[in-house]
Amino acid sequence: MSSTTEAFDAVDVIVAKRDGRRLTGAQIDWVVDAYTRGVVADEQMSSLAMAILLNGMDRVEIARWTAAMIASGERLDFSSLSRPTSDKHSTGGVGDKITLPLAPLVAVFDVAVPQLSGRGLGHTGGTLDKLESIPGWRAALSNDEMMRQLEEVGAVICQAGSGLAPADRKLYALRDVTGTVEAIPLIASSIMSKKIAEGTGSLVLDVKVGSGAFMKDETRARELAQTMVELGSDAGVTTVALLTDMSTPLGLTAGNALEVRESLEVLAGGGPADVVELTLSLAREMLDAAGRRDADPAAALADGRAMDVWRRMIRAQGGDADAPLPVARETEQVVAATDGIVTTVDAYAVGIAAWRLGAGRARKEDPVQAGAGVELHVRQGDAVRAGQPLVTMHTDTPDRFDRARAALDTALVVEPEGRPAPDRRIVLGRITG
Ligand code: URA
Repeated sequence: MSSTTEAFDAVDVIVAKRDGRRLTGAQIDWVVDAYTRGVVADEQMSSLAMAILLNGMDRVEIARWTAAMIASGERLDFSSLSRPTSDKHSTGGVGDKITLPLAPLVAVFDVAVPQLSGRGLGHTGGTLDKLESIPGWRAALSNDEMMRQLEEVGAVICQAGSGLAPADRKLYALRDVTGTVEAIPLIASSIMSKKIAEGTGSLVLDVKVGSGAFMKDETRARELAQTMVELGSDAGVTTVALLTDMSTPLGLTAGNALEVRESLEVLAGGGPADVVELTLSLAREMLDAAGRRDADPAAALADGRAMDVWRRMIRAQGGDADAPLPVARETEQVVAATDGIVTTVDAYAVGIAAWRLGAGRARKEDPVQAGAGVELHVRQGDAVRAGQPLVTMHTDTPDRFDRARAALDTALVVEPEGRPAPDRRIVLGRITG
């Protein structure tokens, strides 16, 4: 496909990386642009992605790759807003509904939160899928609508427009089917190109570690976090990362409407302790990065100010904040087979169960069931008696119960001689530029 007018030959770029050499800035600019234009073919880009996965890229190469992906599309500009902007990105986990209480909570303190989000794929849920369980709520906003909502309400959670980093969209779909998603330079540049193009002034990254996360081990999660913090800082975005535990689900629910319900509990001043703790830790980081050092987010959850912003945020996007949330047509329980201690509630297996019940999708065009998912009645470390309910499964299609139950049989371990687990640490580390 290459033409004589092109600056480079794709094969030369692939061979350079295959042989462990650094790519030049000009090579990177060209290959990202030429791939977006369709001049570099999918099979050539997949070969280059595999060479990057195997041989890595240094800091200069990753920064240049990120800049090239940003340059492939539009950049938003929030500088006309009357308040600072701060955003959060999570690498994704099971029961991770934190964006829902977090965005309105931070907006209470006169910080604008432009939360451009995606839909879920596989065992982790997507923020937009969760919010779409609210009757009337609309994910797609124009840039003008988003700006107006940021000025008037302070928080917006909406679908990322197709104009941001189009090179990433094409490359991510390719990586997904070529075994090259896990390359740290490619993950870091993919996430950060979208966040930098979005134009936020500060960014807090929630990098998950554990069975339910992308990164199963802490060393790689730390390397990813460090790489992203450097990319953000080099681009002038104040960036901080928290490494957080994803070995067991966050909160007691995994599934769209179930997670909205749990988020509402947090916004009402209650909710599971781990969800509250992580919401507050991330809120403090975002507020700090936006210069609001004296803000007290715990008070804003307790006194209803965060709930007020939530209601305005939902209404601004057509949602009915008072409407009952959808519930699944069928439920079935999983009960403890023996007396003992719950020693494991594995995040990945719970995520798979929620997905099998209909809460997630296998292909990006699949529909999701709003009411489907998993509701846990126990946490790691709890003592249980034989016959006690451990989980309620929710679905509209009861033929899904058997496969979900199979996942839950491996997810929850009850040991007759088990010991109560030590207190769970949610925040495992903090990385700054
Ligand atoms: N999320 C992204 O946006 N990109 C990746 O590469 C991985 C997760």
